[in-house]
Amino acid sequence: MSAIALRPFLPSDARRCIEIFRNSIEELGNEDYDEDQREAWSARADDPAAFAERLSESLTLIASLEGASVGFATLKGLAALDMLYVDPAFARRGVGTALIDALVRIAQARGVEKLSADASDSARPLFERNGFVAQRRNLVAMGDQWLGNTTMTRTFAKPAAAPPPTTTRH
Ligand SMILES: CC(C)(COP(=O)(O)OP(=O)(O)OC[C@H]1O[C@@H](n2cnc3c(N)ncnc32)[C@H](O)[C@@H]1OP(=O)(O)O)[C@@H](O)C(=O)NCCC(=O)NCCS
Repeated sequence: MSAIALRPFLPSDARRCIEIFRNSIEELGNEDYDEDQREAWSARADDPAAFAERLSESLTLIASLEGASVGFATLKGLAALDMLYVDPAFARRGVGTALIDALVRIAQARGVEKLSADASDSARPLFERNGFVAQRRNLVAMGDQWLGNTTMTRTFAKPAAAPPPTTTRH
């Protein structure tokens, strides 16, 4: 099985990200959201420039498999895992897990104590498997539709405090 590679987003990735965004909502979100809801969700990429800006403003990672870009995820601000989308043709091969894992590590390295995500119903089991705990249900207005999601958080243990220095007399 080929390895999943991760790298930072470049502006030239925006078009492919929009394609992944739309295809994943259409094909991987269809068990939890009806056609009208998926259309409203997908419409968030109707303005490609605004979508590209959203990706540039966040810390966005691109996942590649077999040399092709197959998924992306964003860390918004210090502690919000905002977007996570995988090409349906490459789903269930660990790409989503690799992206979550990388953003968790980055957040931890930045000293964040808690990382949150508003997980779609399709992504909720994956977040649970990755240590996120459901906090509350939300209904989000998108166009003329309401979509449910769940705010989930993963809390990191604080590193143990260093013991006080011992003073020795000679
Ligand atoms: C949610 C989403 C990002 C998951 O991406 P993914 O790459 O398929 O995720 P993974 O492969 O890491 O995990 C998916 C499942 O495949 C399983 N899996 C992982 N690697 C696997 C492998 N090599 N073989 C078989 N199954 C595998 C995982 O255990 C997981 O199972 P679960 O759903 O029961 O928890 C993707 O389905 C998606 O884009 N959905 C639509 C958009 C969406 O809802 N985004 C989230 C917004 S918050």
